[in-house]
Amino acid sequence: MSIYQATASAPVNIAVIKYWGKRDTKLILPTNSSLSVTLDQDHLRSTTTSRADASFERDQLWLNGKEDEIKPGGRLATCIAEMKRLRKETVEDKNPEEPKISDYKVHIASYNNFPTAAGLASSASGFAALVASLAHLYSLPASPSVLSAIARQGSGSACRSLFGGFVAWDMGTQPNGSDSLARQVAPQSHWPEMHALICVVSDAKKGTSSTSGMQRTVETSALLQHRIAHVVPERMESISNAILQKDFDTFARITMKDSNQFHAVALDTEPPIFYMNDVSRAIIALVVEYNRLSVEKGQGYKAAYTYDAGPNAVIYALEENVKEVVQLVVSYFPQKPEEFKDVLGLFGERGSLDLNA
Ligand code: DP6
Repeated sequence: MSIYQATASAPVNIAVIKYWGKRDTKLILPTNSSLSVTLDQDHLRSTTTSRADASFERDQLWLNGKEDEIKPGGRLATCIAEMKRLRKETVEDKNPEEPKISDYKVHIASYNNFPTAAGLASSASGFAALVASLAHLYSLPASPSVLSAIARQGSGSACRSLFGGFVAWDMGTQPNGSDSLARQVAPQSHWPEMHALICVVSDAKKGTSSTSGMQRTVETSALLQHRIAHVVPERMESISNAILQKDFDTFARITMKDSNQFHAVALDTEPPIFYMNDVSRAIIALVVEYNRLSVEKGQGYKAAYTYDAGPNAVIYALEENVKEVVQLVVSYFPQKPEEFKDVLGLFGERGSLDLNA
């Protein structure tokens, strides 16, 4: 008797052009394109094992060992149903020899290797790993791009975690979402000097979820409409070029402007949404001052902060400046006080940092 089981893992990604707003909440089609960096180290990953068996009575999922409900018609159910459909259409219908395992129920176990309490988004890596593991289980010939369209329906940002390196999610124009896909702009090997420092400011659960927050923004913010029409398209192009040319100065300027505008759009929402706290803002001030001194010396920007829907900072910096940036952050925010928890160096071969070095 055959055993049908497969395991896959996917890392977290951190956007430099933010996705914020849906034009279709069911298919998860965004109101603007976005671009992110997939973190390529072992620290922040989801690993998922799926198993299909004729004896299973229902689809079930465990998250970090605890069963999570698969709500009918919900995001998890949609992703699982889409993967079964792909198995049936692209494998079983084409080759009657293949076992009809798309009829079996699945059991799925997913683990995040970072503390869920770290307050870092796990839905992106989680849905990407889920879709990747089902793709293995079903021996699908599907490309990462096709899989991105399914992961997208689990959580928008998850579509970008199916690729490594620098990844764009094109918003697309089709009402059925067929062209709302992730694509790799450049592999990590193109710019291996790029690092991301995760500064865990707070591990408290965020007040307003991305899903509900962005919907409220779509309904109430005029600034979002300006961002969609007049800001993001040009920024997508400029930051892609900066990445291709390894132009850190431009990359940093756009990254910080886009983080700022995302938080401005959150503030422009009714009622307003605040994701950053005083420590987040102090880190911004520090990076701004650091860059100002660097520009004065004729060296251009050396660090770029970005914040998602929470107070934790991610600072992008090139390898040659990482040590200096970490020392700076740690000297202003000595480790272990209540407000500032941790700095993790990620992305790239030598991403792990020795804070004592
Ligand atoms: C601020 O992908 O978590 O991190 O599609 O509703 O699941 P849903 O939202 P989600 O939103 C991420 C928002 C963000 C920006 C980004 O990652 O682009």
